Amino acid sequence: MNQFWSAMAQNAAPYTPGEQPRDLQYIKLNTNECPYPGSVWLNQISFSNQGMQLYPDPNAANLRSLIATRYGLESSEVFVGNGSDEVLAFSFMAFTSQKQPISFANITYSFYAVYAQLFQVPQHVVPLREGFVLDLDDYENGSGPVILANPNAPTGLAVPVARLERFLQAHPDRLLIVDEAYVDFGSESMVPYIHSYPNLLVIQTFSKSRALAGARVGFAMGSAELIQALDRIKNSFNSYTISTLSQKMAAFAILDEDYFQWTCQQIMSTREKTQAALRRLGFESTDSKGNFLWLRHPKIGGKELYWQLRQRGILVRHFDGEIVSDYIRVSIGTVQDMETFVKAMHAMVEEAGGSNE
Ligand SMILES: Cc1ncc(COP(=O)(O)O)c(C=O)c1O
Repeated sequence: MNQFWSAMAQNAAPYTPGEQPRDLQYIKLNTNECPYPGSVWLNQISFSNQGMQLYPDPNAANLRSLIATRYGLESSEVFVGNGSDEVLAFSFMAFTSQKQPISFANITYSFYAVYAQLFQVPQHVVPLREGFVLDLDDYENGSGPVILANPNAPTGLAVPVARLERFLQAHPDRLLIVDEAYVDFGSESMVPYIHSYPNLLVIQTFSKSRALAGARVGFAMGSAELIQALDRIKNSFNSYTISTLSQKMAAFAILDEDYFQWTCQQIMSTREKTQAALRRLGFESTDSKGNFLWLRHPKIGGKELYWQLRQRGILVRHFDGEIVSDYIRVSIGTVQDMETFVKAMHAMVEEAGGSNE
């Protein structure tokens, strides 16, 4: 810190992203990326220097229109940004204030607290219930917007859409932001409710189920008025948030529906197999609907699991903090990655004094 830092820079409490080692010596199960490459349709993009002297389309009109068609919406009901992290940041700028709190769970995607801190929005942090359950009854009495990841991260548990709908009906004056980064891995989406509820904003990403984390593309879906607010913020900040190449990549990714379906199915079936094998080894895990598992073992602490796996060439995510430090979050890799992972876990459990098998 020095004399030139603004109050904003001084007060920021930045997010710490998972490690991105540049060598390939690890099986990388730490940042919930897709283990499979992007759609082969991406190979149709002919990269040349021609055109690169021009700015990209600031509205990403083609991509918005493709997303709108895929989800049964109008282009005016879709916003695209540089990863859903940017869409989330713009949502904080567009829909929160310093006068009213934003409510979110105590265990959830940690960027929500980072943005609230950055934009000086009061935080109403609501503890999860026993078993990491998010109960919307606990949000009924507050005021101001609510943001939740559904399914939640890092627990993978989802709130049923019928419960979310009841909240929207009961609180037409409160905006509900549903971060559906992991919705394609087996839980229900709120997108079909967009036309019924002007107080609903749904955010999704190309980084997980569409295997495009490297392109940085996320999107929001909601009423045209909500989308207009996001556009006003974007155009006051950076008109060209998504590069020409990323717009093209995301367009191919959303068109290749078969590959998207295959990827999701593959990850869900690998998740279920891995989960069953780990439970046989005595691990406890939530019924995750994400592309990751949230696990602990009664005999081996979370940090210990993290370090031992690292020594065996497998990177997972460990978070410090009450409750969560017993756990690790493990992204679902390829079938082969997860076989190697289960073998490593088996060996570690044996060393710690045996499994429950
Ligand atoms: C719940 C949740 N939301 C949003 C994101 C951000 O995704 P991206 O910025 O890659 O679209 C993540 C990334 O891990 C996440 O876990």
